[in-house]
Order: sequence, then C-alpha cells, then structure tokens
Amino acid sequence: MKLAIIGWGSVGRALGRLLKSKRREYPFRITGIHTLRHGTAADPEGLPWSRVEAAEFGPRAASIEAFLDAAGADCAVELTTLNPSTGEPAISHLRAAFARGMHAVTANKGPIAHAWAELSEEARRAGRGFRYESTVMDGAPVFNLWRHTMPAVKVLGFAGVLNSTTKIVIETMEQGGGFEEGLAAARAMGITEGDGAYDVEGWDSAAKTAALANVLLDARTTPQAVSVRGITRLTPERVREIARQGKTVRLVSRGRRSGTGASLRVRAEVLDRADLLAATPGTSNLILFETDLMGTFGTVSVNPGVEQTAYGVFSDLVSLL
Ligand SMILES: NC(=O)c1ccc[n+]([C@@H]2O[C@H](COP(=O)([O-])OP(=O)(O)OC[C@H]3O[C@@H](n4cnc5c(N)ncnc54)[C@H](OP(=O)(O)O)[C@@H]3O)[C@@H](O)[C@H]2O)c1
Repeated sequence: MKLAIIGWGSVGRALGRLLKSKRREYPFRITGIHTLRHGTAADPEGLPWSRVEAAEFGPRAASIEAFLDAAGADCAVELTTLNPSTGEPAISHLRAAFARGMHAVTANKGPIAHAWAELSEEARRAGRGFRYESTVMDGAPVFNLWRHTMPAVKVLGFAGVLNSTTKIVIETMEQGGGFEEGLAAARAMGITEGDGAYDVEGWDSAAKTAALANVLLDARTTPQAVSVRGITRLTPERVREIARQGKTVRLVSRGRRSGTGASLRVRAEVLDRADLLAATPGTSNLILFETDLMGTFGTVSVNPGVEQTAYGVFSDLVSLL
C-alpha cells in the first residue's frame, strides 16, 4: 500500500521509523511527504528510506491536491498540527484524499471533533476506509474497541484523563516545581500540542471529548460545545496543599448522552489518590466507558509516548491493508 503522509513532525517521524522496522512483514511504501515549511517529496514509485530519514524534501507542492496527485498513493496519512477551533486544514486534506478515491488515516483529532459524520459519509461514498485510532489515547483501543470487540453494546457515557501534558505539569508542581517548568518538561517529551496553551487551557481535551462524543454518542458536536476549564488557574501552592490532603488534580473529560445530544465537559477535578481516574502515573491515560450491557469498564495506557501514537496510526494502516 502506497502512503502519502501530510505532516512530518514527532508523529510522522516516529511512524517512519515504525514502517521501516516492519517493512518485511508489512509492505507499505511512502510515496509522498508534505509539510508546511520543510517542503514536499513525492515519487509514485516510493521514496528511498535514506531520503525519508534525512528529510530531504524539495520545494513545497502548490496545494494539497497537487501533492496527492504527485504522490499517487492509496492512502493519505494526516499528521498535521491540531487546530481545535476549526479542525482545518486537516478536514480539507482528508476531503481531498476521499475525492481522489484514497483511504485516509489521521492522528489529528480536529477533523473527528468537527466533521466526523460528514467525513465518514464522504469515505463511504468513495468506498474507502477512514481510521483515526490515535486521536484519543494513541494506539490503545478506544475506537477500534467498538469496531471489533463489543457487539451490541451501547455507550451511555465516558470519563477520561486524556491529556498527558497537564498530568506532567501537575506532577511537576506536586514535586516542588513550577507551572512553566512542567510545561517545558512535557514539551521536551514531544507530547505537547504545537501550541502548548491548547493543552493547559483544556482545548486538546475538549477536542478529544467532542471526538469521542461524535463517534460513540452520535453527538454531531464540536469542541466549542464542550464546557471547558483548563488548569491555568492552578498554582503550585494550591496543588501542594491538595497533595497534603492525600488528593491530586486531574484534567477530566466527561461525556454523557442527554436527550437528543450529549452533555460534555472538561474540568480540573480534585480526586482522591485511590480514585481510578487518579491512579495512573506520568503520561498515562485512562478512559472509563459507561455502557448498557457491559456496566463500566475501561482502557488504560501506561506512560505512552510518541511511539505509541505512531503505533495507533500503523494499526489503522494494517487494518486497511
Ligand atoms: N505528539 C503526540 O504525542 C500526539 C499524540 C496523539 C495525537 N497527536 C496529533 O498528531 C498530529 C501531529 O502531531 P506532532 O506532534 O507530530 O506535531 P508536530 O511535531 O508539530 O508536526 C506537525 C507537522 O505538520 C506539518 N504541517 C502543519 N501544517 C501543515 C499544512 N497546512 N500542510 C502540510 N503540513 C503541515 C508541519 O510542517 P513543518 O515541519 O514544516 O512545520 C509538521 O511537519 C497533531 O494533530 C497531534 O494533535 C500527537
């Protein structure tokens, strides 16, 4: 399967390493890479690994359409920067792929949070696959769980700790550091959004909450419909006072079916240390689903990094293959 990759940042490069390490078992070929400021490379016969690894790109293609046509791929892989306000230009990138009869995979939650129903319909009309496992909790099964293993179960709601950056900031403050120090540590780990404000102000979590609601609760919502408060008002003094009481803070995403839609919120919640939502360390993420037939159960990912995000994209590609 030939791949046209849009975005070659932390996730793109980790995916490149994974594709190379598994190339004998899974014969994917990268035929194009397109970036914002670092140019474009395209060859329908496949780009040599040496060129991919050195990121030797030529002049930037004039448009996403020109890039996809030049790459001649079977599947577009959308890995550009999150825009939680509009989901663009990623939505247009995916539309251009479906219009060319390509499959599409994305780790960018913007399109799922803003236009999941429309994009799914475009993929269906094109007779192509559309996958997005990495948009919430990297490669841990969140969306594929429902696709493959839980027939007939209806999701009634969810509660999750889905943003790693805020956990690192809170833990840094608990250990005596400052807010900015925690944010810098998360940035050094490659887990923050391009604009770290999206993490600490709660917009990354809002986008994940809207994406979950669109796919699992049929909500047809957007991040703007999520009631959001991030962690920016938390001070190191307050965090340490809470820690002395045996508690901690987590940025929690909650969603619930309500009437014809869903009620959705993101809040910094004070939790007992023994609370399941508080129990995981470091960059770990956790989601609990409330269901009609399976009670409450969940998925945990312990200290995932960008390699696990790349795996989520890879797992989508393998299932399309
Ligand atoms: N990092 C993680 O742990 C993680 C986890 C789950 C999901 N995600 C999602 O995965 C996506 C990629 O994350 P990342 O960490 O790899 O981001 P990143 O390091 O900031 O890289 C973003 C890439 O997208 C390119 N880009 C931005 N706008 C573009 C445009 N209009 N056209 C073409 N290319 C464009 C950039 O080009 P330049 O190189 O020229 O700037 C860069 O190569 C994001 O949507 C993020 O939310 C990331």
